[in-house]
Amino acid sequence: MNAVPGDFGFHSAPATKLAIAVIGAGPRGAGLARAFQVCPDWELAAICDVDVNRASIMGKQLGTVPCFETIDELLDCVEVDAAAIATPLGARHGTAMTALRAGKHVLADEPLADSLSHAQEMAAEARMGSLVLMAGRPHSYEPSIQKIQKLIDAGSLGDIMFVEALLSETNLLNTERDVFWDLAPRSFAVMDEVLPGGLAPLDVSAFGGDPLGTGRDCVGHIYFRLPNDAPVHLHVNRLSRSKCHQLLIAGTRLTVVWDAGVQKERLRVYDPSSPALQKLSTPPVPELNLLQLPGEDGTGPSVEQQTMERMADAFSRNIRRQNDGHSPNSPTSRILAVLEAVSRSRSLDGQVSGVVSPLGDTHGGLADDWPQSVLWPT
Ligand SMILES: NC(=O)c1ccc[n+]([C@@H]2O[C@H](COP(=O)([O-])OP(=O)(O)OC[C@H]3O[C@@H](n4cnc5c(N)ncnc54)[C@H](O)[C@@H]3O)[C@@H](O)[C@H]2O)c1
Repeated sequence: MNAVPGDFGFHSAPATKLAIAVIGAGPRGAGLARAFQVCPDWELAAICDVDVNRASIMGKQLGTVPCFETIDELLDCVEVDAAAIATPLGARHGTAMTALRAGKHVLADEPLADSLSHAQEMAAEARMGSLVLMAGRPHSYEPSIQKIQKLIDAGSLGDIMFVEALLSETNLLNTERDVFWDLAPRSFAVMDEVLPGGLAPLDVSAFGGDPLGTGRDCVGHIYFRLPNDAPVHLHVNRLSRSKCHQLLIAGTRLTVVWDAGVQKERLRVYDPSSPALQKLSTPPVPELNLLQLPGEDGTGPSVEQQTMERMADAFSRNIRRQNDGHSPNSPTSRILAVLEAVSRSRSLDGQVSGVVSPLGDTHGGLADDWPQSVLWPT
């Protein structure tokens, strides 16, 4: 499906539910599993984790969901239509390829894989099997994010002057990838939803540090420019004492601040001409009044759970509609291309590094070059 503003209800469940397996029983897998259990179009058929104790704890919490140690074992024993992959980044390509080769649709977190070439391999496999390979971006189903999109599309912010983003958490155990690959994709996915033209830098600079000597950057800064030359700065930090995911977009008319760390008032709007930079209590533009949802006021299920459920619903719609000719988008390729440029810049001590498309030319035809099987709400 495409995330249609205001279209937040589940579609009515067709006669036959789709069966899904969740691979990876960490917090992300648990959130996905709960979402698939709630969505009327899905039946949560199995859970898999190489740590089988973790899988069985989650299986019991969710009822009597069968648990498996490997995806091969699961696919041998249970008939499923799709797999939702919630493993760490390094295992995403392998598990997704196993599922795709077995003819299963796949939902995997952004970035889809640990390299552009691995993601392309997954997309080619999906295309060959006429399967949906969807990148998981729960935040794009958030009313507050869709409000920012609307404000920007309507020109209500004026010209964008600068963008600041922060993503921090405490995670000293995660040394599989550096902090850029670990945290930046979540912020990139949000930027790709809201920035005019999406996340499309021509080049990037990245600086980082590893103050605890873990062997990988744990703190990092990424810089690039929007097409109007406005600077964008993303700070990623997994040594922080606080968990933050924030985005500030400063326009000549309005400044918006989005904060995923709160349930209520995730989006605040400021008038930059006011000397005290006061928060606007009355919506200054009609777009702000749109897309109000129950739950955004802090009551009911968390915003995270609601967005996860909408994503599960979107996945089933994509599967059921995959042949109806609606056109896909390719943000996944953009995020991976930007991440690879970040790694190149970091290895060159912050030197500016061009973002290279899957076909090898500088950013340009990414969207057109990405295989049809990668579906994402436009
Ligand atoms: N937790 C979040 O808030 C969050 C937010 C956005 C994205 N993510 C993404 O989701 C991924 C998972 O997050 P998490 O917090 O649940 O991590 P986690 O490490 O706590 O859990 C991952 C689970 O996957 C299992 N696993 C590893 N390889 C496997 C394999 N080959 N087959 C089956 N199971 C395997 C691990 O044993 C572990 O239990 C992260 O790497 C991140 O990219 C997480």
